[in-house]
Amino acid sequence: VVAAAGFLIYFGLFPGEAPEKPPGPPVVTPIPNRPVVKLTSGYAGSDSCRDCHAHNHATWHASYHRTMTQVPNAENVVADFQSARLELEGHSWVLSQKGNDFFVELDDPDWQLAAASAPRVTKQIVLMTGSHHEQDFWYETSRGSAVQRLPFVYRIEEKAWYPDISVLMTPPDSPAGFGDWNSVCIQCHTTLGRPRVNLQTGFATTEVVEFGISCEACHGPGASHAERYQPENRNSQQLAKWSNQDQIVNPGKLDHRRSAATCGQCHGVTLFSEDEIEHWEDHGFRFRPGQDLSESRIVVQRDVVDQNAMLRQLVEAAPEFLDSRFWSDGMVRVVGREYNGLIKSPCFEHGEMSCLSCHDMHPDEGDPRPLHEWANDQLKLDMGSDTACLQCHAEFGQQLTEHTHHAADSSGSRCYNCHMPHTTYGLLKAVRSHQIDSPNLTSRLAAGRPTACNLCHLDKSLGWTNEYLVSWYGAEQQQLTDLQNGVPDSISLALSGDAGQRASAAWSMGWPAAQQASGTDWQGRILSTLLNDPYDVVRFIAARSLQTLPGFRDFEYDFVTSPDVRGGHSQRARETWNSQRGDANRSMDLSELIHVNSQRSATAILNELLNHRSDRRIELAE
Ligand code: HEC
Ligand code: HEC
Ligand code: HEC
Ligand code: HEC
Ligand code: HEC
Ligand code: HEC
Ligand code: HEC
Ligand code: HEC
Repeated sequence: VVAAAGFLIYFGLFPGEAPEKPPGPPVVTPIPNRPVVKLTSGYAGSDSCRDCHAHNHATWHASYHRTMTQVPNAENVVADFQSARLELEGHSWVLSQKGNDFFVELDDPDWQLAAASAPRVTKQIVLMTGSHHEQDFWYETSRGSAVQRLPFVYRIEEKAWYPDISVLMTPPDSPAGFGDWNSVCIQCHTTLGRPRVNLQTGFATTEVVEFGISCEACHGPGASHAERYQPENRNSQQLAKWSNQDQIVNPGKLDHRRSAATCGQCHGVTLFSEDEIEHWEDHGFRFRPGQDLSESRIVVQRDVVDQNAMLRQLVEAAPEFLDSRFWSDGMVRVVGREYNGLIKSPCFEHGEMSCLSCHDMHPDEGDPRPLHEWANDQLKLDMGSDTACLQCHAEFGQQLTEHTHHAADSSGSRCYNCHMPHTTYGLLKAVRSHQIDSPNLTSRLAAGRPTACNLCHLDKSLGWTNEYLVSWYGAEQQQLTDLQNGVPDSISLALSGDAGQRASAAWSMGWPAAQQASGTDWQGRILSTLLNDPYDVVRFIAARSLQTLPGFRDFEYDFVTSPDVRGGHSQRARETWNSQRGDANRSMDLSELIHVNSQRSATAILNELLNHRSDRRIELAE
């Protein structure tokens, strides 16, 4: 509290109160080899809230928000550092641990002569990103607190190290180890981060209020608030003084736009003016909870490009900027950018839906779920179900089956499955879109975004869906090609889609609801082909889905391999599938699923689809 008060003085919030001590000689402190925690601008840090808000602190403490960025220590690192040796393109990285400290021995990253082999050096690992799905590591550099990325990530579920390029949706020839912590990740993975990077030298003296996403990221600066409620400030004069300065914000009391903006500052695609970037460098972003995002940023959507000169310039200079974040019809296609989808939803535009309609940052004390269960997706109690929609659309509860045309207890009657289908991608999985939309074929035909019905009915064609959308919902009849009428859409996307569509199809083939609706005895044929995909992530997801099918649970597979080896994996999977089917010749071609008006065999059609695979570069900014 004393320290916080000191900073208030420093920032001129108490004019007239001079520091007590006269200035002494300058203190020379060694330059830290990692970004440091330094309170400023009226922020007090989460420790200062704990005593008065024990429950809020405990729930936050259990969240992945808290552990998003951490200084690694023996307790929080789950990655294997016991003399792990990692290799990539002829180089090696040797990891080690001494007590609470972690190190990597590597080719000297500062070595300038590319031709000669670099000397080996040992660097301390000084920062860690993530804790839910994976842990990424950053080692010290010779540029102050600038840190550099270890080009490998540790996946927690698989308990394995992989090259970082192999777990990101990037073309096979992408360079490894990209991503700049001090000026990029810091934006959304810390609380009030200040990059302080010298662009000429790369030297940095980076500061944050707190590593991870802490109380004040969502509640605003809290030093005056914490001070206000100290027992010694209970007399009326003090109270009046502090209450004027209490900047604490409760997003639960904001209108839905400002509430959503609190989350959108990190869960959104936004752009900053040069002036804002300059301010951010030393002081952090200007945005504070309670404000509208548009006060200090441009919220990026495809349909505002023409109205905004800065965005237009960016898109002209880097056309991939939009494609790596949005489907061509404007819907977000990557995880972590839910805000841009939410604000395009009718329920937000014409109603009051916000993130807090379904998510809860501090579950109630009576909540029966263990905190670690809540922490996965941080949903409000029961908001993983139709209740999320029925809280505002109650009438659909009474006419459920009339509306859905599925049995009431069918997965085909769940609102989420038709209105928030899994059309976004990230972290090696498909995730629900956060833009409420209704199943239709137009976005599939115009933008390639899979249709909700076909993400569950994997064995059905677009022609089949067309028929039911017309007869059940009065949708407009679409003109379709022979292949669109005769081939299950999941198969078309898996074989001739782009890498994003192939990943989506591969993920759906492992989704229990889709397996229930579409069976499990044919996907092995398609997934075995995807084990030979040029994109590492497509192979990874295909193998994981394959392992959920009967007969493949113990299928061994290494997705980071040479084309030769993966060809072998693919062959082995195909043989396993054939042998399961008994009559290999009949089942080989999936003729039960493919019905086209031509003499071509189903096998010929599968080959044709594969030969037409879209090899446009897909690089998603997950
Ligand atoms: C000395 C005790 C104390 C400390 C320290 C303290 N608070 Fe509070 N806080 C309170 C009290 C008391 C209230 C209830 C005020 C009321 O109901 O009007 C409160 C209310 C709140 C609210 C709800 C405000 C609203 O309008 O609904 C938030 C959010 C909050 N505090 C966050 C924080 C954060 C973040 C910190 C740490 C930076 C913090 N508090 C530190 C005592 C404290
Ligand atoms: C615009 C804000 C933003 C920026 C910039 C950003 N991230 Fe993230 N990141 C997020 C959000 C939001 C999530 C949560 C996504 C989810 O869970 O669906 C996330 C999740 C992650 C995760 C998964 C964590 C886990 O525990 O599973 C990793 C790893 C990650 N980010 C790495 C990075 C790296 C490395 C950088 C910098 C190169 C970066 N991010 C930059 C917003 C951002
Ligand atoms: C990721 C955003 C986020 C973080 C981080 C966060 N909160 Fe909250 N907090 C909220 C939201 C949103 C609400 C409104 C009610 C809700 O959703 O639970 C809230 C409500 C509160 C309230 C009002 C009482 C209540 O429970 O409704 C207090 C007090 C509070 N938070 C304190 C804290 C403290 C202290 C921390 C850190 C230890 C913290 N919060 C971290 C988002 C956050
Ligand atoms: C300062 C940036 C920031 C703010 C503000 C923020 N988040 Fe996050 N959020 C992240 C990052 C980064 C992650 C990834 C953490 C992880 O999963 O390891 C994340 C993860 C999540 C997750 C997924 C947790 C999981 O791993 O399953 C949910 C849900 C979420 N945030 C919702 C919200 C909501 C709702 C708000 C607003 C009340 C909010 N966040 C505010 C940055 C932020
Ligand atoms: C109508 C309900 C609803 C609303 C509104 C909503 N979410 Fe979600 N959110 C969900 C559900 C359900 C999931 C679980 C998705 C899944 O299992 O794929 C989820 C998952 C997430 C995740 C984790 C994604 C992952 O990687 O698995 C994040 C992050 C998230 N939401 C953030 C937000 C933010 C930020 C907002 C507001 C901009 C928001 N959500 C609004 C229902 C909602
Ligand atoms: C906070 C309240 C709220 C929540 C939660 C909510 N909605 Fe809505 N929704 C609305 C409002 C209000 C409208 C606008 C109604 C109108 O224009 O007649 C709307 C509109 C819609 C529309 C479009 C109607 C049209 O005519 O274009 C669909 C579809 C929809 N909601 C589905 C859902 C689904 C599915 C969920 C759950 C995933 C959901 N909503 C959650 C309030 C909500
Ligand atoms: C999340 C999964 C899921 C989604 C999404 C879904 N369904 Fe279904 N559907 C099922 C299941 C499971 C059945 C089996 C019968 C039952 O449970 O009602 C089924 C049965 C059917 C049937 C009757 C049986 C058949 O195979 O002919 C039709 C027709 C159908 N669905 C059409 C659709 C259409 C059209 C959509 C999109 C508007 C859709 N479904 C969305 C899961 C789904
Ligand atoms: C099998 C898929 C499917 C399921 C499940 C489903 N819907 Fe729909 N819904 C549709 C389709 C298709 C439309 C578009 C119809 C139209 O344009 O008239 C639609 C339209 C809507 C609309 C806007 C049109 C209107 O009639 O007002 C709302 C609101 C809505 N659904 C809410 C829900 C809710 C709430 C649930 C869960 C209880 C739900 N839906 C479950 C397919 C589904």
